[in-house]
Amino acid sequence: MKAVAIDGPAGAGKSTIAKQAAERLGYIYVDTGALYRAIGLYVSQRGADPAGEEEVAPLLKDIRLELVLTEEGQRVLLNGEDVSRRIRTPEAALNASRVAALPAVRAFLLELQRGIAERSPVVMDGRDIGTVVLPEAEVKIFLTAAPEERARRRLLEHQQRGEQADYQTLLEEIKARDHADSTRAIAPLRQAEDAVLLDTTHLTPEEAIQAVLNLVKRGG
Ligand code: DC
Repeated sequence: MKAVAIDGPAGAGKSTIAKQAAERLGYIYVDTGALYRAIGLYVSQRGADPAGEEEVAPLLKDIRLELVLTEEGQRVLLNGEDVSRRIRTPEAALNASRVAALPAVRAFLLELQRGIAERSPVVMDGRDIGTVVLPEAEVKIFLTAAPEERARRRLLEHQQRGEQADYQTLLEEIKARDHADSTRAIAPLRQAEDAVLLDTTHLTPEEAIQAVLNLVKRGG
């Protein structure tokens, strides 16, 4: 299957690297975290508890998610509305992490993600792409970086968007989310047995992109 699966914790550089690698390979980039974030947003807008399976499951049938490519990059449409910016807040990240632990949500998104990968070659990033969503991916990469470096990168991202953010708070959030994502019962964050480990702590984005492209050239 012409697909590159990139998994790893928050802030390891997945989206930057996956996006660039996709562009150079002529594949479609799929940011699966954005799908969980959009569901978290919808659920909280409806006043439901993002951690409550019984409250969340019946809402899924009302959710239509689309990823569209525009000149400004990939946009996420939730029932036709562009929520790309609103899903980037720390609160949206927390809600995403909560809905991501629910089996009904994972089943709902599994179909959507596989459908996209069946239609076109993809570079897909997330937490369980190599292990669950696309076990047949031609290349699987587990991207990591030290938590302190990841917090520093998140801080830069916030600053570039002109938002207030605090390093210590971001570091705590990253550690808490790593813990929640790796210890949940269903599809936890873990390296697939056949995935290549790529630690980006001391790599520039360009070096990391080259490493990914080399792996694709080699076929994994
Ligand atoms: O990559 P991100 O920060 O946008 O992801 C938001 C949350 O969604 C994250 O806490 C874990 C969850 N997620 C997941 O469980 N599986 C994926 N394939 C992608 C994201």
